[in-house]
Amino acid sequence: MNYKNKMLRDDALKGKTIVVTGGGSGLGKAMTTYFLELGANVVITSRNLEKLETVKIELEAQTGGKVLAVKCDVRYYDQVEALVNESVETFGKVDILLNNAAGNFISPTERLSANAFDTIIDIVLKGTKNCTLAFGKHWIARNETEKVVLNIVTTYAWTGSAYVVPSATAKAGVLAMTRSLAVEWAKYGMRFNAIAPGPFPTKGAWDRLLPGDLKEKFDLSKKVPLKRVGEHQELANLAAYLVSEFSAYVNGEVITIDGGEWLKGAGQMNLLEEVPKEMWDMLEMMIRAKKNQ
Ligand code: HXC
Ligand code: NAP
Repeated sequence: MNYKNKMLRDDALKGKTIVVTGGGSGLGKAMTTYFLELGANVVITSRNLEKLETVKIELEAQTGGKVLAVKCDVRYYDQVEALVNESVETFGKVDILLNNAAGNFISPTERLSANAFDTIIDIVLKGTKNCTLAFGKHWIARNETEKVVLNIVTTYAWTGSAYVVPSATAKAGVLAMTRSLAVEWAKYGMRFNAIAPGPFPTKGAWDRLLPGDLKEKFDLSKKVPLKRVGEHQELANLAAYLVSEFSAYVNGEVITIDGGEWLKGAGQMNLLEEVPKEMWDMLEMMIRAKKNQ
């Protein structure tokens, strides 16, 4: 057994219907695949129906599960309401919402137009709000309980980050929404949690965060104490646990899965990692020599 293995028992999500925004690519597709393997029905949504239909055929053949592909731009509340209706018409009910869709690119903030900043806020924060509000109202109106919302943020939701300011601003908002509704809507039988991934290579993220030869210049695995990037299956394992009933008492939590990356950047003396082992005898001697001076 290792971290590339699948974690939960085969029927862990049997009978559940899960809506995954941005489910047709990258991490959304990886989580969708595992949910299907665990017995769930999955609704995948994004702006590109052709891409979603191709992924539906691929994943149904691969897993034997049932996928509904729905075109939905999460920025528009009417499209999200249509998503709720189509999902319920097809599967009878929805149990879990995974807010995974995102938009992002690197840029000095002063180069951004007002519309560029809004575009990221609209996809990430407003999109998550639209889906959460539409599904939440639907569940409350129908007195349905045992519902789960899982939001994908990232560690700069609390550290902030230069050069991705709209994304950091929006992800911070999503994290605040997660914690706020974990308390307010617990009475309706809903749980809210978030995952903060560190670097997990995907085409969508890498093309926009590390374009051209930045991929070679900034090897992200070097920033991680565990000296590697994440495997999609280990994120899928965590997501499956958090949407399953095995995590029924976990509510309002954000779980970081980044190999220790953000803490390495935060700890003031972490740079001492660079000091070679053989230098420590000398350094210790110098420090001890300062005693009683
Ligand atoms: C400056 C830019 C820009 C850039 C677009 N704009 N790209 N400004 N630098 N590189 C500006 C445009 O000029 C326009 O403003 C505005 O942004 C909207 O651009 P559109 O192309 O019209 O928007 P749209 O077609 O809606 O596309 C949205 C997008 C695109 C975000 C720009 O990249 C996209 O579709 N992304 C979806 C997938 C994605 O981003 N995945 C990565 C997630 S990674 P004006 O003023 O000209 O109208 C992630 C990782 C987190 O979140 C943490 C990692 C550690
Ligand atoms: P990705 O493949 O680019 O995923 C983004 C998805 O969002 C795409 O499927 C995209 O589909 C969809 N999307 C974008 N705008 C949308 C809109 N307006 N309406 C509906 N769907 C929309 O990138 P990823 O790396 O897998 O990212 C997935 C999640 O993980 C994101 O929340 C991201 O912030 C987070 N994350 C990723 C990393 C990483 O290292 N990869 C690290 C931390 C956090 P369409 O383009 O077809 O609409």
